[in-house]
Amino acid sequence: MLAEPSPFPHQGPLEPEQVRGRDHLVADLVARVTSRRVTALVGPRRYGKTSLLRRVAAEVAAGGASVVWVDLYEATSTADLARRFDSALAEARGPVGGTLAAIAARFDLQLGLLGVQLSRRRDERPDPEASFDSLLETLVAGARQTPTVVVVDELPGIDRVEGAAGLLRTKLQHHVQEIGLIFAGSQPSLMRAMFTERSRPFYAQADLVEIGPFSAAAIAEIVTDGFDSTGRDAGDLPGRIHDFTGGHPYRAMQAADAAWRCVAPGSEPRPDTWGRALELLRGETNLACDAIFSGFTTGEKATLRLMAHDDALFGTAAEALSLSAGSARHAVDALVGSGDVVDSDRGRRLVDPVLADWIRRRFPR
Ligand SMILES: Nc1ncnc2c1ncn2[C@@H]1O[C@H](COP(=O)(O)OP(=O)(O)OP(=O)(O)O)[C@@H](O)[C@H]1O
Ligand SMILES: [Mg+2]
Repeated sequence: MLAEPSPFPHQGPLEPEQVRGRDHLVADLVARVTSRRVTALVGPRRYGKTSLLRRVAAEVAAGGASVVWVDLYEATSTADLARRFDSALAEARGPVGGTLAAIAARFDLQLGLLGVQLSRRRDERPDPEASFDSLLETLVAGARQTPTVVVVDELPGIDRVEGAAGLLRTKLQHHVQEIGLIFAGSQPSLMRAMFTERSRPFYAQADLVEIGPFSAAAIAEIVTDGFDSTGRDAGDLPGRIHDFTGGHPYRAMQAADAAWRCVAPGSEPRPDTWGRALELLRGETNLACDAIFSGFTTGEKATLRLMAHDDALFGTAAEALSLSAGSARHAVDALVGSGDVVDSDRGRRLVDPVLADWIRRRFPR
């Protein structure tokens, strides 16, 4: 018998119709791109940025606009960037597709083939910089002809390639009234820096919109609906899941899935259900947490240990870990920069509640 599919998907970005609890944000982003306000969606890793943008893209596409989706995850070179834009243009959704192909032909480009062409012998290979330039020209010209929304996910990928952000900015700057533009990226402080530092090409070019954790009400609705739709009663689990995850979207879905697997169809949670779900979740994430933790520097590890226990970063607990004030400061900056730690109104905390829980268990006080 096939296993019953979980109502709490948590493998990678979701399909547009699976996006839950973000109705206001979806409506806001759709209104923004429709009225051509350049927007940068900022939030920690696994907060649902890509899923949300897929939903926004689906809604604008349903309204008749075209969508070009560029993914710059870990882009490494101009050739790599050119390849990403080439496939984005080749896979454009909606009426702009044909327009783009026709414009590209004027530049001697056949969309979708650049990857192959760039892997030819050196003397037969197109120049990556010229190709990148032509692709951007094509994108802008095409998007000006028919209502188009351009989504650039993982924008900080462009930052690693010298001069690329400046070129993108130059190509786009006179056309932001005509093209719906939305950027997203996973390193919140780098994203913010790209749009708020004077020295950066995109300085003051976009409104920053934050994607936050799920509210307790959103989790209650998502969890209750998922249990109801599969003939189960969620009981007190929504509150438990919110308390444990602090609303971290990916971790909340993972915890909801673990809890759901502990409740048989047609029944409701028992007093030990949450405890069993937590053991399941921990068992499935221990190795990954170990791997994540071992990737930090010594100073960052000590800092994370103190933060996970809500201990001060100076004083006795810090001394016991040989963490100097200077190293702690340095580590906090790096951790905020990488999006592993956030400054919130409740103080600084680890973004990932499952990693925090693992650290507390692995390094008890
Ligand atoms: N609105 C949502 N409804 C339900 N689940 C969500 C939602 N947003 C995020 N999730 C959960 O988080 C997971 C990760 O979502 P997604 O890949 O869109 O996040 P991201 O912010 O783009 O992550 P990354 O930083 O890795 O790019 C999803 O698989 C899902 O489990
Ligand atoms: Mg993403």
